Order: sequence, then structure tokens, then C-alpha cells
Amino acid sequence: MPSITRRQFLTAAGGAYAGLVFAGCSRGSSATAVPPGGVEVDRAEAMRRRPGASVKKIDLTAAPLTVDLAGIMAATWAYNGVLPGPEVRLRAGDVLHARFANEIPEAATVHWHGIALRNDMDGAAGVTQEAVPEGSEFIYEFTVPDPGTFWFHPHVGLQLDRGLYAPLIVEDPNEPGGYDREITIVLDDWISGVGATPEDTFEELKAGRGPHAEHASGGGPTSPVLKGAGGDVSYPLFLMNGRPPKDPPVFEARPGEKLRLRFINAGADTPFRVALAGHRMTVTHTDGFPVVPVAVDTFVVGMSERYDVLVTVAEDGSFPLVAVAEGKGNHALGLLRVGAATTAAPSEPERLAELGRRLLTLDDLRSTEAVALPAASPDRTYRVVLDGGEADYRWTINGRTGMDSEPLDVRQGERVRLAFENRTTMFHPMHLHGHTFQVVRPDGEPGPRKDSLIVLPDQRLALDFVADNPGQWVLHCHNVYHMEGGMETTISYVR
Ligand code: C2O
Ligand code: CU
Repeated sequence: MPSITRRQFLTAAGGAYAGLVFAGCSRGSSATAVPPGGVEVDRAEAMRRRPGASVKKIDLTAAPLTVDLAGIMAATWAYNGVLPGPEVRLRAGDVLHARFANEIPEAATVHWHGIALRNDMDGAAGVTQEAVPEGSEFIYEFTVPDPGTFWFHPHVGLQLDRGLYAPLIVEDPNEPGGYDREITIVLDDWISGVGATPEDTFEELKAGRGPHAEHASGGGPTSPVLKGAGGDVSYPLFLMNGRPPKDPPVFEARPGEKLRLRFINAGADTPFRVALAGHRMTVTHTDGFPVVPVAVDTFVVGMSERYDVLVTVAEDGSFPLVAVAEGKGNHALGLLRVGAATTAAPSEPERLAELGRRLLTLDDLRSTEAVALPAASPDRTYRVVLDGGEADYRWTINGRTGMDSEPLDVRQGERVRLAFENRTTMFHPMHLHGHTFQVVRPDGEPGPRKDSLIVLPDQRLALDFVADNPGQWVLHCHNVYHMEGGMETTISYVR
């Protein structure tokens, strides 16, 4: 009988996952789960693979690193000795061949966030593979089908809240272009080596001593946009491309140039509100996929989300690029230097006028025709109730934590609807692996294609996806502390 894999938590070792376990017996019906390396998975990969596709080979080593954050020496873990990790670029249709060497003192994986890849290369520890032990290697090899802005990070415990993250940019062979320069901007909330460890932070949250307790009782800072707290953890620093505001990254451009800015939120617990002084931004993509362009002054990017924007550079000058930790205060900072201007750090970045102007909303976003799913009603609908976050810091999906979750079964070829209902007092950036879903709009128009979606407190929000990538796929909150606290389940393809 084919087995399925379920993740299992260890109470020891900072919440690392145990190996794969049999759970095939949990099925009520005669259906059996498609295993991560099943024939269906091979078949789906064969359909994606073009004969003669070029293979991009990379080496990735996760290892301890000390980074200099404007004079604060912070011990952390990172890829290939840099923060963020090295940007990986390839073209849609190429094959990525990544040799991953694990030199951190914990078992780890690499998860390729947002990529519709073969299930056994997804890096979801305990679900699609066993975590790679310290001192070992693992080869990831898969076709990368869709162009866009993606990224990668570990999928074990709280490892993401250290420095293990990097951009993965998939170029479109048919890119219409229309811009002169591309800049990738990675945002992060930083505690590693400066504040408490992520593991101690999680213990504090579980003990009810985290800032969340204050938020829940209305004491902490809140965000009107998020209809509640911006997060549970107070971070000492916020970084842009691995740099703190005291030592901001400087991006060079010439007057009149068109820039494509690719924003990635690699934070564990922080949404960012982004604005560029003196410039409007035209949003063209979210989570890698194109949207009908919309011009705004500012937008909020939730954990794991991406936004691509076009900017036409103004005259000479030094323009602050600000990413405010929404609902928390404090910020990450960069500077756009145009022409020969000298760069001057702004005195009050959080008071930038653009931050208070036209804000992007979910209603603004519609898929372009090229990527919209065909109009169809779902073959199957699941309610996905988000709950928990009380004193014990247990977060649930449909009343269960990841440890004892009931998988949501789907069959290949179905159109599946997930109807979210958030019963908590916090927002959750919900992320589905291996698929790019489409947000269901009340007006019936095709909503944006995304892989991560902010669900606000008390909000009901539905998304549709086509079950075209067989295997076992994690569905979870991308607040890493919520996920570790249990907000995780599996979309399980069955035969
Ligand atoms: Cu960014 Cu489950 O992943
Ligand atoms: Cu959450």
C-alpha cells in the first residue's frame, strides 16, 4: 500500500521535525495519497521538461556567518557567506540543479518558494523529504516553469528567522521589457545574533510573555490596514538587502530611466509598507505573476509575498526607499541615488508623504488575461478556518495544528476552492506550496494569481487553484512563529 508522509514535530531540538512517518491509515475511503516521488509526479515533471532545456548548476552552502550590521557584529546562518544569499537567475523552462551542503548545526532543507516544481524537490521537511543532516548534501533538480520573482529559504523550524534566504529570479524569454534596469530588494526583520534567538523568542510567545499578549488585550501598536497587530515579535532591526538603516544600500540610476523593482519580504513576522520618496510606483506583478498595472504611492508586502513595480526615475537627487514595519514602527531603508547627487540619509523616513498617500488594496489587483484561470466553478470547496493564538500560542487550521492535521484531499485535474475564514485577531499570510492560486473577487473578475495571501482578522476570502501538480503540498501561515505554533495543513493529492 502506498504510504503518505506527514510531518511530525519533535519536542526536543528546537522544534525540528522528525523523519517521514506512515499515515496512510488515516484515510477513511479507499483513496490513497500520491507520494512525493510517485509516478504522477514524474509524469508532471516530464510534461514540464523541454528537450534540450538548459541546466543551471549552482552550489549552495548553509553555514554560520557573522555579519556586520553597521558595527553590530551579529552571528547568524546564511547561504554562501553572504546576506541575503546569492541571487539565483535563470530562464523559465530551464532546469535548476542545486547542490545543497548543510553546514549549520541542525538538519535543514531548501524550499523554493512559489515555484510549481516537482513535489519531491519542494524541501518541505517531514512532508516531501527528510531534512538534510548537518554535514550532508542533497541535490535539488527540477524544471522551473514560470517566470517571476521568487525566493528560497529553509523549511525546518524557525531557521528562516536567521539569515537563510535569497532571491530566485526567473526571467521571461518573452519579456516585453520596457525598463532599463532591474533592482531586487529583499526586506527582513532581524533578531539573529542581536536579540534573543528565534527559539527563545518562540518559547516566550508560548509562555504568553511575548508582545502578542499585549496586542491581544489592545495594548500594543496596531495597524488599521491589517486590522490588528503587525506581528508578535519586537525586532531590534529591519534590513534591506542585508543592511540596517544606518548603513543603507544605495541603488544608482539615471534621470528618466525606467526601473523594475522586485520586492521580496523575507521577514518571519513583519509586513512592510513600502514607498519611494518623490516617485509613484506602478505595480505590475505580485508573487511572480502579472497583474493589470496599477499606479500607487505605497503598498504593504506581507511575509513571503513579492511585488514587482515600475518606476520612472525623476531628476537628480537622493531618494529614500522606505519599508516601514507595518503596525510596529521602525523601518528598513535604502537610497536611490540619481545622477551625481550625494546620498543623504533622511531625517524622518517614517514620515515620508508617500507612505500616507494612495495605498494598494487587494481590490486593485486583477490578473492579466494571459495568466487568468479560465472561468469555471469549483469541483471541490474546502472551508479553511484559521483560529487560535490564545495564551498557549497554539494556532490552528480547521481546529487542528500541523501535528495532527487532517489533509485536504484533492484529485488531479480538479478546480479547488479554499474558503478562508479568519477567526483570530491577527492577519495571516497564507501560503500554498507548488501552485499559484487565483484570488476570488466578489465582482467575478479574475483576481490576482498569487501563492501567498494576507487574510485579515474576521475576513472571509476565497481562492481557486487548478490541481495540476500532484503530490503532498503544505498550506500554512508564513508567519514562521504561527507555523511553528501549528498553523499548517496539507493539500493531499489522492489516487
Ligand atoms: Cu516560503 Cu512553506 O514557505
Ligand atoms: Cu499567521
